[in-house]
Amino acid sequence: MTSLTTRPAAQVAKARAGVGGALGRRLGLPEAQWHLWPADAASGLTGGSDEAGPVTDAEAAAMAAAPMPPGRPIGTSLRYVLREGDLMFGYSRRYGDVFRSDLAGGPGRVVIVSNPAHIKSLMTASPSVVPSATRFSPLRPIIGPDSVLTSIGARHKQQRGLLLPQFHGRAVASYQERIVSATAAGIDAWQPGTPVRLADIGQQITLDVIMSAVFGIEVASVATGTSGSARDATPAERAVRTSMVRLLHLSTLPIATVAQLLNARSSEPRGLLRMVLRPLDAAIYAVIAERRRDGIDRPDGGGRTDILAVLMAARGDDGNPLGDSEIRDELLTLVLAGHETTYNSVAWTFERLTRHPEVYARAVEAANDGDRAYLGAVINESMRTRPVVPVVARELLQPWRFGEYGIDRGIVALVSILMLHHRDDLYPRPFAFDPDRFIGVKPSPHQLMPFGGGNRRCLGAGLAMAELEVVVTEILRRVDLETTDRPAERPRHRNVTMIPTDGGLVTAVARR
Ligand code: HEM
Repeated sequence: MTSLTTRPAAQVAKARAGVGGALGRRLGLPEAQWHLWPADAASGLTGGSDEAGPVTDAEAAAMAAAPMPPGRPIGTSLRYVLREGDLMFGYSRRYGDVFRSDLAGGPGRVVIVSNPAHIKSLMTASPSVVPSATRFSPLRPIIGPDSVLTSIGARHKQQRGLLLPQFHGRAVASYQERIVSATAAGIDAWQPGTPVRLADIGQQITLDVIMSAVFGIEVASVATGTSGSARDATPAERAVRTSMVRLLHLSTLPIATVAQLLNARSSEPRGLLRMVLRPLDAAIYAVIAERRRDGIDRPDGGGRTDILAVLMAARGDDGNPLGDSEIRDELLTLVLAGHETTYNSVAWTFERLTRHPEVYARAVEAANDGDRAYLGAVINESMRTRPVVPVVARELLQPWRFGEYGIDRGIVALVSILMLHHRDDLYPRPFAFDPDRFIGVKPSPHQLMPFGGGNRRCLGAGLAMAELEVVVTEILRRVDLETTDRPAERPRHRNVTMIPTDGGLVTAVARR
């Protein structure tokens, strides 16, 4: 088994004073970086009034105004994009679990909440009163305004209804074989002895799975063009994969943060983003044209059952099919939302496991013994402590009460999943990595919510859980991992996701 070193205190101090620390200090961020807080630290998030729900304008005006940390919108936005977690924990320690902020990009004035009762009031309210704030999503310039993720109202209901069956129980079970073979291929290609970013290995696996589900192609052929009995990927389909990998790689570079800020208030891609999207769009439109040429856009799906066939066969209330740009938006949404989140969850899981040797040893044992309960608890604890999507947003079209505070209509409520998952009153020792807390426990949907909630709950949650279970179990069973002696990886914010800075860096010392 691996020898895993614990970090000397001096190293932790050095990490705190590192780039993140220096930049953070200049921006006036709290000194301690939350991901380095010791297991016994308290978040300070506890108690408070659970009262929440819609109120009248007069009632809201008569209530106290939620605290508003000082600072100019541009500075706050920059801090938010660079070190969201530190900002959130810093503010919540000072102001409690309801506070306001003013952001220069995106939604402008927001209220940030993390009390489960407050969150439940939003997630169970009618979407006509509290729609998803997707019009401010940083993904909107990339995936367009009309996809299942960015639309609201009737359009969202229709698109979600069309796609949901593709991600429900039986459909997910039919993807199982693809998940297993993509995972086996990913692990077989892994060279022991050199440090690897688990995000890269996970990306290969999860991208192959979602591409295979969307385009109905053999997993092995997605990247290479070779396959067994099922249909091979066409050159255009492989070009989609290549451009997608390039887009995601570019989005990890510092320049991407600038591009994100420049695109913050637009629904059309601008500048660098536009340039980067061009080859990806060309590849997607080529796949659609290929299908139309082959007559696979008929209402019967032309004999195909993959997700693209379902989209091309769909007819709206007016009897018309979806246009090419609508199909492009939907495909890009599924491929993008369908794998970046999942592979970063894999990376975080091992980033956490390799820094907790006793838990890691138990997880290996569980994988070998087929103990799914423990493995499920590991995945839950990983998504609790490092939620890849740390915030979801809802727009308040009616004034709302959160505890003692009244919030005006027109404000966007940011539900901080990260803070919810670190409440002292829900999770004692919230900064500890302790899967045992989930053994024999079915967490309530408003206490553990890595997949968001309500009518916008992640469409691919079932597929994601199936992938996480297979990938995590197989890596535990087949590869002996050693961590670096670096401190815990810093969470980095990219568009809507929170990802490990080094991609979950590990070294496989041996294959079993
Ligand atoms: C561990 C992996 C994943 C995580 C943590 C995750 C998380 C989320 C979250 C937090 C939301 C927003 C929910 C809200 O606003 O309340 C979301 C939405 C969505 N996710 Fe995922 N997701 C994952 C994997 C997937 C996969 C595999 C797919 C497959 C296609 C997918 C497709 C979507 C779509 C289409 C939406 C928009 C749903 C809507 O607005 O109706 N996600 N996801």
